[in-house]
Amino acid sequence: MLILGIETSCDETSVALVDCRAEGHRVITERTASQIDIHRPYGGVVPEVAGRQHAEAIVPLIGTVLAGQPRPEVIAITAGPGLITALLVGVEAARTLSYAWGIPLVAVNHIAGHIHSVEIGSLSRARSRDQKSLTFPVLALVASGGHTELILMRGHGDYHRLGATRDDAAGEAFDKVAKLLGLPYPGGPEISRLAAAGSPNAIPFPRPMLAEDNLDFSFAGLKTAALYWLRDNQLAAMQLTAVPLPAGIFGQSPDPPTINDFCASFEAAIVDVLVEKTLRAAKQIKPKTIILAGGVAANKTLRQTLAAEISHRLPATGFQLPANTYCMDNAAMIAVAGYYQARQGKFPDWQKLDVDPNWKIG
Ligand code: KG4
Ligand code: ZN
Repeated sequence: MLILGIETSCDETSVALVDCRAEGHRVITERTASQIDIHRPYGGVVPEVAGRQHAEAIVPLIGTVLAGQPRPEVIAITAGPGLITALLVGVEAARTLSYAWGIPLVAVNHIAGHIHSVEIGSLSRARSRDQKSLTFPVLALVASGGHTELILMRGHGDYHRLGATRDDAAGEAFDKVAKLLGLPYPGGPEISRLAAAGSPNAIPFPRPMLAEDNLDFSFAGLKTAALYWLRDNQLAAMQLTAVPLPAGIFGQSPDPPTINDFCASFEAAIVDVLVEKTLRAAKQIKPKTIILAGGVAANKTLRQTLAAEISHRLPATGFQLPANTYCMDNAAMIAVAGYYQARQGKFPDWQKLDVDPNWKIG
């Protein structure tokens, strides 16, 4: 099934033509216009600016992706959750094409898209041992700038939310603490780059919600702990730069932590919480496969730690990750998620399709 995926829920305008089949999926063409450079001076995504940028980018991107290609059979569009100003642009483009071409639409939940990102490219791998189709039940940890959720999937389209963040998302915590340090947006990659040369044990940041008997997360307190640590060590954010600083800039002790140690300790706190809660959920529901997806899944320490803990503590459970480039928002993952909905005949009428900025999965 030839599917045109469209994703405009946040700050990437992405369009992809994907050949989706029962045996796997292959991206034929894909183009993404990132707005990161435009939002960077503001330290985060500005909704009105995002909407305008999507409106400028969407038609040329669709034209480029479809140039010389056959007409798609289905359009898969992200209908939520996300920024309303951003979602509306993609949904209106999809509705227009559906009407003009007389082809059906599927409305895809952005979180479902992230879960299916592990299947992108699976057609080219299908004949190898690295078959990537999902084996249910699936437990997915989706961690991004807007979401931190643990989802149980018993089959296609069958989602149950086991836990979610009560305040900040994991990526948001990375971004906000990076801002305190004067690092550019998005902060996750910056913190993880600096963390690589630091000690994760240098500063004992709290591990929020680990002691509580539930599968929810909370990262606002950790962000505040990071803020207080910087204040108590008499550090103004302006003193710091994106360049690793020499040891000794923090505090007055003889062997004070460096910015690298600070980043490594902060990263370790987030990774510990994400890994432990995922393993706890896995022990309860006994999934065949664990998936890690979303922008924060690009974090090397998280990828490695979760992989090691699963193989050590749950050796019979499979573990799937998207390729690094497909951790970020992209249209191919929306096309793949949309394929399973199309197979189930879940086609809303284009006249009735609407955005849902708070669409909860499961
Ligand atoms: O999935 P995504 O592209 O957009 C949302 O749906 O939010 O995720 C972007 C988020 C940002 O918060 C960014 O800082 C975070 O993912 N991120 C990372 C890393 N790369 C991206 N966080 C930690 N470590 C990384 N290497
Ligand atoms: Zn996302």
